[in-house]
Amino acid sequence: MTSPSSHTLPGPIDPPARLLMGPGPISAYPSVLRAMSAPLVGQYDPFMTAAMAETQELYRGVWNTGNEATMLIDGTSRAGIEAAIVSLVRPGDRVLVPVFGRFGHLLAEIAERALAEVHTIETDWGQVFPASVIEEAIVRVRPTLLALVQGDTSTTMNQPLDDIGEICRRHGVIFYSDATASLGGNAFDADAWGLDAATAGLQKCLGGPSGSSPITLSPRAVEVIQARKKVEAGIREPGDASAPDFVRSNYFDLGQILDYWGPRRLNHHTEATSMLYAARECARVLLLEGRDEVIDRHEVAGRAMLAGVEALGLAVFGDVAHKMNNVVAVEIPAGVPGDAARTALLEDFGIEIGTSFGPLHGRVWRIGTMGYNARKDAVLTTLAALEAVLRRFGASVPAGGGVEAAADVYRGAVASTASASTAAAAATTTDAAGAR
Ligand SMILES: Cc1ncc(COP(=O)(O)O)c(C=O)c1O
Repeated sequence: MTSPSSHTLPGPIDPPARLLMGPGPISAYPSVLRAMSAPLVGQYDPFMTAAMAETQELYRGVWNTGNEATMLIDGTSRAGIEAAIVSLVRPGDRVLVPVFGRFGHLLAEIAERALAEVHTIETDWGQVFPASVIEEAIVRVRPTLLALVQGDTSTTMNQPLDDIGEICRRHGVIFYSDATASLGGNAFDADAWGLDAATAGLQKCLGGPSGSSPITLSPRAVEVIQARKKVEAGIREPGDASAPDFVRSNYFDLGQILDYWGPRRLNHHTEATSMLYAARECARVLLLEGRDEVIDRHEVAGRAMLAGVEALGLAVFGDVAHKMNNVVAVEIPAGVPGDAARTALLEDFGIEIGTSFGPLHGRVWRIGTMGYNARKDAVLTTLAALEAVLRRFGASVPAGGGVEAAADVYRGAVASTASASTAAAAATTTDAAGAR
């Protein structure tokens, strides 16, 4: 066995400049990248345990929850999904998964691997479920757990969740949602909507790299998890009972992970320090700007991109009224080679957009405006480049139409923000006058 000599070793990592405007991952906030290069500390260093506690508190703000059990799962978003499902579902439990895209199938697949009895209902890709359809299925299936994606990136749809928690409560069902693609760019009210468990990832609207999955658990979910508690031999202490139906995964055993993040600080895995720094910074920048303000920024960027692609003559896929703020899917125009056009965008403009999965692969492009890239310059640059590429591949597109339509949305947003602040200022003056 020979080892490579120094002149055959690859050089240090030096990625090309890219504007990531696909369905995620997206370009991270510069401060998140800086946070990741901060020096490492030991896992029980008081700095580290304080950073963990700060991260928990920051994510309570992001999720809009008072849940004590709010933390990170090390791994990509599906690590969070898997931790939630394997810890909440016992073999043989009935799980209901309404499927409206690829990621509903993923939840069903993970529940199946957890040996649940999985029931699905499906709707066409590009649609969401009315709450009444979900309730009918709950009544028929009588599941222990409802597992429901909020924003399914494969179709861009945003399933309304606000009525679902109350339905689950009434029928004694634990309510879990995968908010990987939607959290931070669309409303998410964990407590007000009655969520028992929710998970996400950093690489979408939170503006970080993939590799850490924020999770929040209601007291009801914690109770289910604690009833299945098993502490591994080697760190077990007197009084640590072992439930017969313990969670079948060690890495994703939320009971042990809660003990690691909680006051007991019982060693489980070694927390991924640089990812913790990244996740902490993602939440910090979001709350610094303001949760509602960040959602508004995504809403405006999404509306501008929508107006831009429509002005370029592209047909938008799915029920636009239920689209996530942060991603739009457009039909690839007849005669335009979808993959070659995406390659031209990447190679000539350094811009990445995506196609989709399953029935939508090669049929749509998905263009994201999320996290750090939910910005006017990113939207306008992408539309200008898309127009040039479409023309190069023979599509007839109005010159400058997409950029102008998007810029108009921004001008309108500025005008409405200005009139809102004038109205707010006038109201303040009136209040002040009233108080006098
Ligand atoms: C809605 C949804 N769930 C789950 C995942 C899986 O995420 P990850 O690739 O971070 O594991 C994705 C990824 O795009 C997603 O969009």
